[in-house]
Amino acid sequence: MENEIKINVVNSLDDYQKVVAIRSIVFVGEQKLPYSVEFGANELCCTYILATVNGEPAGTVRIHQFKDFAKLERMAVLAEYRRTPLAEQIRQKALDICSVKGITKIYGLCRRELLPHWSKFGYHLVEGAPGIQRSNMDLVPILVDIQEAKDIIKFTDHPDRLMEQEGEWRDNCMYFQQPFNVNDKTAIIIRKRNELRQQRKSAEY
Ligand SMILES: CC(C)(COP(=O)(O)OP(=O)(O)OC[C@H]1O[C@@H](n2cnc3c(N)ncnc32)[C@H](O)[C@@H]1OP(=O)(O)O)[C@@H](O)C(=O)NCCC(=O)NCCS
Repeated sequence: MENEIKINVVNSLDDYQKVVAIRSIVFVGEQKLPYSVEFGANELCCTYILATVNGEPAGTVRIHQFKDFAKLERMAVLAEYRRTPLAEQIRQKALDICSVKGITKIYGLCRRELLPHWSKFGYHLVEGAPGIQRSNMDLVPILVDIQEAKDIIKFTDHPDRLMEQEGEWRDNCMYFQQPFNVNDKTAIIIRKRNELRQQRKSAEY
């Protein structure tokens, strides 16, 4: 049976606990980071991405948002899923969330020796910004520029789009106009479905 992989924004305490489970195994268990360091800052002000395989926790990253950039933090994939496409899928999900919010600069800290690896994904060293030394690691700041999404969230959008769960501004949002070509059969079906949902919802009030 094929594995069912899901990568979503954490919107429940249950999913957050799965994130904590992954980070406890990877950072506290494997890397011997003290719990107080791993979970000591900014736990409640970030957006978390969780990847599950057949419902079980598999990988995570968090987005720490600032004025015009976001910092990706605490990226971890359980050992059994490393060297699979999962890490890249999690990163892509995080970048997608940022681009819909209009954030086009993604910052991270990486071990100096991994710079060649990150440059393959378009990251470059942030000139003039300081790095840090942590747990015998030389960490340097890196940045990648991404495209703003075509369907960026605006305050002129329907209020129900703005009230959607974090990260669910497209598929589950009945007020979102798909930015497809009108001849696209899929777009027509999705629009029709959304119209019907909208009518049903209006009838409920
Ligand atoms: C970082 C991590 C999520 C990458 O997932 P992955 O499945 O191993 O990554 P990919 O298969 O996409 O890429 C493997 C490459 O990632 C590189 N890499 C990038 N960042 C890395 C990191 N922090 N630790 C280990 N390898 C890393 C490896 O050098 C490897 O490159 P190579 O194939 O040229 O040897 C995973 O290795 C992990 O959970 N590591 C432990 C937690 C960690 O160190 N997180 C980063 C700090 S926030």
